[in-house]
Amino acid sequence: MIPTDALTHPTDAAAVTHALVEAAAAAGHAPSIHNTQPWRWRLAGNTLDLYLERSRVLDVTDPDTRLATLSCGAALHHARVSLAAQGWHVEVARMPDPEDPDHLARLSPAGRVPVELPSLRRLQTVRLRRTDRRPVTGEPVATADLQAVAADVEAEDTWLHVLTSDQVLDLAGAADHAQRTEVGETAWQTELAYWTGGTRPAGTGIPDAAIPDRTIRTTVPGRNFGHPGALPISSGQDRAAIFAMLYGRTDELVSWLRAGEALSAGWLTATELGVSLLPFSAPIEVISTRQAMRVIIASTGYPYLVVRLGHFNATEAGPPHAPRLPTDQIIDRA
Ligand SMILES: Cc1cc2nc3c(=O)[nH]c(=O)nc-3n(C[C@H](O)[C@H](O)[C@H](O)COP(=O)(O)O)c2cc1C
Repeated sequence: MIPTDALTHPTDAAAVTHALVEAAAAAGHAPSIHNTQPWRWRLAGNTLDLYLERSRVLDVTDPDTRLATLSCGAALHHARVSLAAQGWHVEVARMPDPEDPDHLARLSPAGRVPVELPSLRRLQTVRLRRTDRRPVTGEPVATADLQAVAADVEAEDTWLHVLTSDQVLDLAGAADHAQRTEVGETAWQTELAYWTGGTRPAGTGIPDAAIPDRTIRTTVPGRNFGHPGALPISSGQDRAAIFAMLYGRTDELVSWLRAGEALSAGWLTATELGVSLLPFSAPIEVISTRQAMRVIIASTGYPYLVVRLGHFNATEAGPPHAPRLPTDQIIDRA
């Protein structure tokens, strides 16, 4: 491994800059709440800093920035995946500035490492992963696949609790209650409409092509987008769906960031295994239902996000990839 001070050589410095720009670009493919992409990268010398971009935080849905921070954690993990695939060992400092809670992480390449084939594959998966809101088929998720997803989540200091069938019914009630609560609020409706239609910044938000073309009858209701989209729904009832909860020991910024890294790790693994993963954040967004989610894990920790796992009918076309902001709008160079 090359010591960090060896990176002051001009050639190495150019190589590091290139690797960091590539990492920030790859991070742009990360999932985010309503595709807000609430991150900004700052490139200075040999380091890449991740900041929360306040202008793309959902003030009504996400006033404490938990889901925006979680989204930034997914972007951070994507950047780590990119650097590993480029053969860089990287040091990660999370919440490096106690005076600035929006400064979420600093990545510092610390030397070259051999590139492993799984790292290259993982970077390809970053471009393949997408959110698919169709109901899943009756094909069960293999226990080994579930264990692989859970192991990758746990490697990021977050736990995955698989809900029992009774707990799925509790989740269904909470998801329904959360959506009714949100839909009853005009400011929430306005915010949702902005990010799923209308005149938001180009390259952000959820296109109609990724929203189901009709209401799907499932045990746990998916996100109510307030209008039908254009994603054709033909089969599948979610009976074989697995619902799981990402949770952890504390309820603070750094644990939400870690949960986002865990979401990315688990989602990329699921994608490689041919398993679909769909986040359900409505029950986390509303305080009372978040509390109900906490009861499900017997108050042994704090819930961060609910996810659905399952399979799709391979013969049916899925949604297109959601748009992304151009790289130069998410990277500042010092
Ligand atoms: C923290 C978080 C919460 C999300 N919550 C939901 C949700 O409740 N319902 C849903 O359909 N998609 C949800 N998503 C998926 C995003 O809408 C999706 O990642 C975004 O639109 C970008 O699309 P892509 O994942 O296909 O790249 C969530 C994603 C994240 C990271």
